[in-house]
Order: sequence, then structure tokens, then C-alpha cells
Amino acid sequence: MREIKSLIDKLTRENFLTKEELKRLLENLNEDTRDYLIQRAYDVRKLNYGNSVFLRGLIEISNICKYDCHYCGIRASNHKVSRYRLSKDQILDCCHKGYLLGYRTFVLQGGEDSYFTDEILIEIIKELKTQYKDIAVTLSLGERGRESFQRLYEAGADRYLLRHETANKKLYEKLHPKMSYENRIESLHILKEIGYQVGSGFLIGLPGLKLKDYAEDLMLLKQLKPHMVGIGPFIPHPATPLKDEVGGTAYDTITLLAIIRLLLPDVLLPATTALGTIDPKGREKGFKAGANVIMPNLSPMNCREKYSLYEGKKFLGNESAEEKIKIEKNILDSGFEPILTRGDNIKWKRK
Ligand code: 5AD
Repeated sequence: MREIKSLIDKLTRENFLTKEELKRLLENLNEDTRDYLIQRAYDVRKLNYGNSVFLRGLIEISNICKYDCHYCGIRASNHKVSRYRLSKDQILDCCHKGYLLGYRTFVLQGGEDSYFTDEILIEIIKELKTQYKDIAVTLSLGERGRESFQRLYEAGADRYLLRHETANKKLYEKLHPKMSYENRIESLHILKEIGYQVGSGFLIGLPGLKLKDYAEDLMLLKQLKPHMVGIGPFIPHPATPLKDEVGGTAYDTITLLAIIRLLLPDVLLPATTALGTIDPKGREKGFKAGANVIMPNLSPMNCREKYSLYEGKKFLGNESAEEKIKIEKNILDSGFEPILTRGDNIKWKRK
């Protein structure tokens, strides 16, 4: 117990533990030491970002995907999902609606849909950036290669989300047919080199992984130093090969949020929809453990159900951008402050 507390103290002081120490910490936390960890994470978040919780509007631009990731509900071979892609005008309309509601970050996320060429995306990004001077544009569109990433950055995109999903290369390659782990990691480094604020992250509770295995993911994050980290529980989807697996817990997700806050003190760290989906109090618990971002859904209402990454994915109430007043009240009620400015990482400047 004393040893575990001193590991937490070291992590708080130095923002670093060796892989062995991280494993030890993950394997030996109990209720007491976990509370202590969460408290330290809360302090560090306060020091860097105060009580702020940044709101981002999420627009799911396409559920068409050429890949077949074993956990994902919109994988190519799920023929039960009804496919859609938004037009340029629909995307601009969503952002307009979001802008009027007060949102100042728009996250364009989608499957790997080759319809979205650089030309189309550049038009959208430029139009958004000309129309609205005080917004940030975040992309979450998979692996596109250096040249594409570069062109989209030059068009005005500010941030890119690309989770590494799992740092276990063998598991990565099993779950992502036709994809390579090296490519994934290389893409993240390229995005950083170009100058994006980069987000990575991983799934919690993938089959066969134990809590201590996330030491590998944590080391990878520490090395990459992303500006944002998105983690959430894996939730089985009934039309995927992993349908009968167990899935991750809110408990483990919160523990890992707290550790990530201590490893990367200035990181932007969302309390994700997946966390809010498996635990109605998940987001509040996340904020208390160091999370400081939420990404309510701004997609057209009739598409939301179709972007079904996992079973039961929430898109109403607190997960719906239109419910801004309710979301803000919830954040205030849990002791935090909703913020609608761009909310860049405090260490980032555009190159
Ligand atoms: N459960 C939880 N998260 C999932 N994602 C995809 N499928 C699932 C699932 N079944 C996550 C991936 C991806 C993000 C957009 O959604 O981590 O990066």
C-alpha cells in the first residue's frame, strides 16, 4: 500500500514511471490507492486547466468504411448497417447549427471512405475557416498518408484524432485485417511533424487484455506525447466477430484516465461517449479523474443511429449537441465549468 502510494507520488512529481512500475501500479491498486490516484489527477488537471470542460461538436460525416476492424459496428462486412455519407452542404449546415449553438470546435469523423478526397475535404475546411474565424477544425478520418495530412493541415485543419487502439502489435494485427501497426504509429508521428495537435488513444477491455497490459499503451503515449488522448471501454457490437466478448468497464477506464492525466499533465482528455454509454455517471466520474473534454453529437438526427460503432451508443440527452443547456447544467452541477472557446492544448501553436 505504501509502495503503491509512493509510485503515485512519483508519477505525480515526475510525470513518468517505468513500464515495470506502471504494471505494478495497475496490478496492485485497491479502493484506497485508486481514490488517492484519482485525487492527484484531479489536482493536476486543476493546475493546468482549472475546472474547465471543453465542448466539441462531433459530426459523423460517413459510416462507409473500407476496413473490417473486428470490434467496430461500421466495419465493411457488416451488411446490416444502412450506409450514409453527408454532402459538403450537409456538413457545412451541421457546423452552422453548431456555431449558432456556441460550439467553436468541429470534429469531422468518419469511416475510411474514399469518397472524401483531399479536394473535397480541402473545400470544406477552407469554407469553414473563411466563414468562422474563431473555430478549430479537428479531423478523425483514419490513415491518409503524409501528403494528404499535409494538404489538409495547409487548408486549415488544426487537429487530428487517430487512436492507436492497442499497443499490442499482435492483437492490433489480428483485430485490423489488412492494416499494419507500424503504419498506425508512423501516421501519428507524421501528424505531429506536420504540426497538428494530435490525439491518440486506445480501447479498454479488448479480449485477452488485463489491466497491467495497458502499461504498454501508457508507455507509447508517453513517448508520442500527443496533445489529446481518447480512451474508452470496448463495447461489443452484435454484428461483429467480437459480439460475445465481455467488453471494458467504466471502473478501469476511470483508473486509466487518472494515470494518463498524471503522465501527460497538459493533455486534452475527453470523457468519451462510450464511457457515458456504459455508465450514466461515467462522464462526471471521468471529470473528477482528470478528463476535461466532451464531444456531443452534432450529426443530422436521422444519421446518428447509423453511426453505430457499438451497441447502445448514446446520441441523445447529454450526448446531443442540441442539448447544450442541459449539458452545461450537468457540468456545472458536477462542479466543473463548461467552455465553448476553441480550447487548444496549452502547449500548441500553429506552425
Ligand atoms: N466499442 C468502443 N469503441 C469503439 N470504437 C470502435 N468500435 C468500438 C466499440 N465496439 C472506437 C474506436 C475508434 C473510435 C472512433 O471508436 O476506438 O477509434
